Amino acid sequence: MLKTAIEAAVGAGRLILESYPGNRTVTLKGFRDLVTDVDIASESFICNLIRTRFPDHSILSEEAGGHAADEGFIWVVDPLDGTTNYAHHHPLFAVSIGVLHRKKPLIGVIHDPLQNHTFAAQTGGGARLNDMPIHTSGAGTLKHAMIGMDWGHENKMRERMLRYASRMLSVCGTVRVLGSAALAFAYVAAGWIDAYFQPGLKPWDTAAGTLLVKEAGGRCTTMKGAPYRVQCPDCLATNRLIHDELLNCLGQQS
Ligand code: IPD
Ligand code: CA
Ligand code: CA
Repeated sequence: MLKTAIEAAVGAGRLILESYPGNRTVTLKGFRDLVTDVDIASESFICNLIRTRFPDHSILSEEAGGHAADEGFIWVVDPLDGTTNYAHHHPLFAVSIGVLHRKKPLIGVIHDPLQNHTFAAQTGGGARLNDMPIHTSGAGTLKHAMIGMDWGHENKMRERMLRYASRMLSVCGTVRVLGSAALAFAYVAAGWIDAYFQPGLKPWDTAAGTLLVKEAGGRCTTMKGAPYRVQCPDCLATNRLIHDELLNCLGQQS
């Protein structure tokens, strides 16, 4: 399964990269929410490969939907995470593929085709970047920490994120908005940022990334500190060391 997840993510990454310099067809599927022809092509490639190799497994994929069965194996696919970036030719985007077993994360792969970065994790097996072990950062306090977040689409959500940002900016090193939740989780796992949080996530944004963070030594909870499950829309992923301090900081917002 891990080999197939990597093959699917790298193959889809090749398709995404081929279309990166040219024009793409962009459609609005919701308020400020884009989808391109490349999202769909990437999704078909990934889902066809999974169906060929594992015909009995379920697939839950962002554009095609699907069924999140309670039992058995579920492949949770984001064929292109960071579509708004991609549509603008901004270079931060990735493919994210997670496998759940009985709703618990088993495998996570995030592939950044431009950088040729393949982040991969298996429960109990640690996290790797291009086959080299990775670990979350050693930042022990918020004071010098780099925190990732995203704005969301709705104005109400953006106002809420502004309040979080305003509070954090006065106590942490700095704040980064990446535009790809999957890459933000991968960067926490690699120790390139110290934490990432967002209140409006979907299972395909988090299935692979939260496993990578945990396997790299980090911690994932809801933004109120409850254990994180892929069905939860809000997630705080950190290097573990600053988790409680950040929960406390976020808790001071409405
Ligand atoms: C989005 C990105 C973005 C996050 C949004 C996601 P998409 O995914 O991960 O960073 O803030 O919540 O929906 O639409 O580009 O796959
Ligand atoms: Ca996404
Ligand atoms: Ca997507």
